[in-house]
Amino acid sequence: MSARERVAGTVANYVDERTGAAAYLKKNLQKVFPDHWSFMLGEIALYSFVILLLSGTFLTFWFDPSMRTVVYEGSYQPLKEVEMSAAYASALHISFDVRGGLLMRQIHHWAALIFMAAIVVHLLRVFFTGAFRKPREFNWILGIGLLTLGIVEGFLGYSLPDDLLSGTGLRIAQAIIQALPVVGTYISFFAFGGAFPGEVFIPRIYTVHILLLPGIFLALITVHLMLVWYQKHTQYPGPGRTEKNVVGYPLMPVYMAKAGGFFFIVFGVTAFLGAVASINPIWLYGPYTPGQISAGSQPDWYMGWLDGLVRMAPPIETHAFGHTISWNILIPGLIIPGILFTGMALYPFIESWITGDKREHHLLDRPRNVPNRTALGVMALTFTLIALINGGNDIIATHFSLTINQIMWFSRIGIIVLPPLAFVITKRICLSLQRADRELVLHGKETGRLVMLPSGEFIEIHEELSEAKKYALTQHEQPKAIELVTEDAQGVLNPKGIRAKLQARFSAANAENIAKPTAAEVKELEAGHH
Ligand code: HEM
Repeated sequence: MSARERVAGTVANYVDERTGAAAYLKKNLQKVFPDHWSFMLGEIALYSFVILLLSGTFLTFWFDPSMRTVVYEGSYQPLKEVEMSAAYASALHISFDVRGGLLMRQIHHWAALIFMAAIVVHLLRVFFTGAFRKPREFNWILGIGLLTLGIVEGFLGYSLPDDLLSGTGLRIAQAIIQALPVVGTYISFFAFGGAFPGEVFIPRIYTVHILLLPGIFLALITVHLMLVWYQKHTQYPGPGRTEKNVVGYPLMPVYMAKAGGFFFIVFGVTAFLGAVASINPIWLYGPYTPGQISAGSQPDWYMGWLDGLVRMAPPIETHAFGHTISWNILIPGLIIPGILFTGMALYPFIESWITGDKREHHLLDRPRNVPNRTALGVMALTFTLIALINGGNDIIATHFSLTINQIMWFSRIGIIVLPPLAFVITKRICLSLQRADRELVLHGKETGRLVMLPSGEFIEIHEELSEAKKYALTQHEQPKAIELVTEDAQGVLNPKGIRAKLQARFSAANAENIAKPTAAEVKELEAGHH
């Protein structure tokens, strides 16, 4: 035994005698995880969160969330002698006078953007592959909670420096709070400690941004990962992979090495972006004053779709019993996001009701094999994308020489017409891909090699797929429509009348698939009976 091994053994023994960790680690470090590049997306979110914690802690050393008025005396000359809040002055101080400060601010902001992007793409992976199905519904709901918190946390973060852009965003947030019928004005007064913008809001959101929400994040991410651990990770279908086993590599050493390396790649990319790509240059915006707004004010991308919805809303208000109800803010700012997020959270239950499938699923779906779900996802994405485009209407207008009205009308009409169109087109594409899979299994891959038969006829040689590939393309189940029972054998009407009708209708749409090749068909072809 070498000296190094002896020391390692002594240390391990010391720890084990006091914690009893050896047995636990031995069992868990050998845990097997399936491997696929798309399982990295959740990891990117996780690593970006760690980068956010580290870079954010650095920023707290110098950031002063106070609204006290100061006169700027730092080294950025264009703002010299300008009156501003201590918060804005300290953010400028970090940017220009703290060594590495601007780099850290930019790393923090880029990490937030990557964090949100990783969460959204991870969510899409989970959605399109059906990883949210039983028993993972709870983790899906937790995920929706994390997404919502991420949006709020990011918004609060870029609202802190009290620059002209952050103040503009807060003004919109206050308008949304005020749009709440009856209680809105009171909640706004309570949150802002009086009239907008007041002196207390930024110190308050600072505490929420650096203490409360990161704490909740830590707790929820821990539960999220514990559930992944306990329920085991899903896997893509393939030979040898069943609903009852997990095929992959052990945590130690394969995943420890991969995950460690991957963390540094994510950190490296974020640091590179922070070093070379300017983000949120607050010194160009100037300090916030409620009477000003600069052209081209854009929120971060994950807020852009909400801003876009508010920007496209027609000016509808009603006045009743001495109260004004601003539908133009209430609908895009609260009701639509509320419906979207509640719908997303409930989706696993809605789908299982439609399919009548209450079984556990550990094998993932190929998106084409579940056309309705895939089409619904693309429909929701199209909706959000159009809202996002309208969120940048001022920038698009100046860059493409269009008017704001042209973009707004495109968005107003597009947001109603294009999502259903996207649904139909996606469903058709999925069915075509199913047809292509069927062709592949039955007739093999086109090789491009043409041969002339003795009769003079030209045919293309098709290469048979491997057994593994054939299995992967045909192992999935195809759902059957739930039959509508209007009355039972005794003639008693089904008490769930409308619900049963709806379920039958949705499940029939869900069951529209191209029949996958049967074993008999494959055999027949193999025997040469075309
Ligand atoms: C802070 C944000 C999040 C972090 C750090 C995170 C992290 C992770 C990680 C590391 C995994 C395992 C690897 C993988 O499947 O990608 C995972 C799995 C999972 N996540 Fe997330 N996630 C987050 C947000 C979300 C969101 C927004 C959703 C969906 C609404 C979600 C739903 C799930 C589900 C259902 C699984 C199990 C997937 C499976 O077994 O195939 N997560 N998460």
